[in-house]
Amino acid sequence: MNPKPKTLAIVGYGRMGRLVEQLAPANGFEVVLKLNQGNNRNGEGLTLNALADVDAAIEFSTPEAAPSNLKRLAELKVPTVAGATGWLEHLPEVTRAVQESPSALVWSANFSIGAAVFSRLAGVAAELMRDETGYGAWAWEIHHDTKKDAPSGTLLHLVDTMRKRGYLRNIDVSSNRAGRHPGTHEIGFDSAADTITLRHVARSREGFAQGALKAAQWIIGRKGVYTFEQVLFG
Ligand SMILES: NC(=O)c1ccc[n+]([C@@H]2O[C@H](COP(=O)([O-])OP(=O)(O)OC[C@H]3O[C@@H](n4cnc5c(N)ncnc54)[C@H](OP(=O)(O)O)[C@@H]3O)[C@@H](O)[C@H]2O)c1
Repeated sequence: MNPKPKTLAIVGYGRMGRLVEQLAPANGFEVVLKLNQGNNRNGEGLTLNALADVDAAIEFSTPEAAPSNLKRLAELKVPTVAGATGWLEHLPEVTRAVQESPSALVWSANFSIGAAVFSRLAGVAAELMRDETGYGAWAWEIHHDTKKDAPSGTLLHLVDTMRKRGYLRNIDVSSNRAGRHPGTHEIGFDSAADTITLRHVARSREGFAQGALKAAQWIIGRKGVYTFEQVLFG
């Protein structure tokens, strides 16, 4: 017999929120609350009453709305998956809210499993290249023309990963916004002798929604702030 589904709130019911809803039943969730700008302006939909029977929330709103939604969900002790991008300068205050409550949060600019593996590979490549001064590095991404933040959170995370692994020379960063691309990220190293290119191509948004639902199952029953890489690799 299948276990009873966990209850899920979707905060940010746009393209990603709708996809999460579609894939929720196959991932052991029943969606019991859906909030968008219309019913959650200034966080008015995030009440103790509305969230009383919610096991986890998945937040895919906007860079502007995400920080206050995430802090409110932390105050209400709802284990949350933070999928929106472009709000990371507020991570310290969101982390404080989660720790003070205490509650639980998993955040990532990219919930695709392939992209998490790609980020690990970028870190290894950066470490191997850190003393090879004959090589220059670049980091590039392209997304659909409605994506609000640029460079993408994923690209910023890739560059940060490369820096943390000791690659301190210039990394030339660029972005494009055009058409319907769900997201392509690339890092590369070039020298007089050769070029290395590492590229991750998202084929659809489904991988992000699947990863967010996997993180939502994982975060239930935990306390603290985690990244998706910790969910996948420990
Ligand atoms: N981490 C990842 O893997 C990943 C993958 C893809 C996208 N993203 C990010 O996820 C976010 C959403 O992407 P999307 O493509 O789904 O965008 P979207 O289609 O524009 O949807 C955004 C939704 O947020 C809602 N919203 C605005 N203010 C809100 C508030 N105060 N409370 C609750 N909802 C609110 C909007 O409501 P209305 O419809 O009422 O305006 C809309 O439904 C973006 O930041 C995007 O970059 C992350």
